[in-house]
Amino acid sequence: MEITFLGHAGLHIKTKTHQFIVDPFISGNPSASHISLASLKADYILITHAHQDHILDVEEIAGHNPNAKLISNYEVMQWFGAKGLEGHPLNHGGKIVLDFGTVKYVNAIHSSIFPDGTYGGNPGGFVLTTNEKTIYIAGDTALTLDMKLIPMSCPKLDLAILPIGDNFTMGYEDAAMASDFVECDTILGYHYDTFPPIVLDKTMAQNYFETRNKKLLLPKIGETIKL
Ligand code: NI
Ligand code: MN
Repeated sequence: MEITFLGHAGLHIKTKTHQFIVDPFISGNPSASHISLASLKADYILITHAHQDHILDVEEIAGHNPNAKLISNYEVMQWFGAKGLEGHPLNHGGKIVLDFGTVKYVNAIHSSIFPDGTYGGNPGGFVLTTNEKTIYIAGDTALTLDMKLIPMSCPKLDLAILPIGDNFTMGYEDAAMASDFVECDTILGYHYDTFPPIVLDKTMAQNYFETRNKKLLLPKIGETIKL
């Protein structure tokens, strides 16, 4: 599995057979101006919640990938359905078996509203299981004890993708505890630096994880990590 960081909470995930886009916010992020929306390939577009910084480029990417299916909660799927985009609505605790493996929608402690004021349902995260790897994509969330259910109810994680920017989500100290809860010591940190309130001291964050025998990956925007 290859994971390319698209900036903020955006990801491109590639297995030998499938490609996924998660929470694309590229055209609104000056630091991601070198990412070409037209070049992003997707069989599935995963959306954790309705906030602008997670959905901004969904329509454009779906336009370039007319066969791509959206995966999100019921309310988010309703909103995109009215725009003609189709896919798989889930709700919390539910998973779906698809041609790549399974995806489960799990709890997040956050809020969710579309830019036009439409209610986005309760926000969530995903556990994505393919025949290569299993990863947890937390979405925007606080630290929550619900994360302890993930290792009890899902395949063992190979990577946990956690917000670390603080202010709107958990910060890196809580993310380190979250990695204990989900029983995964390899973490990709996201949702930092995009806006002034979430600027991160990356050295401090990485040292914090290192002293706890954990690895905090902070790929540059456009950089790909191999799992
Ligand atoms: Ni949010
Ligand atoms: Mn956000």
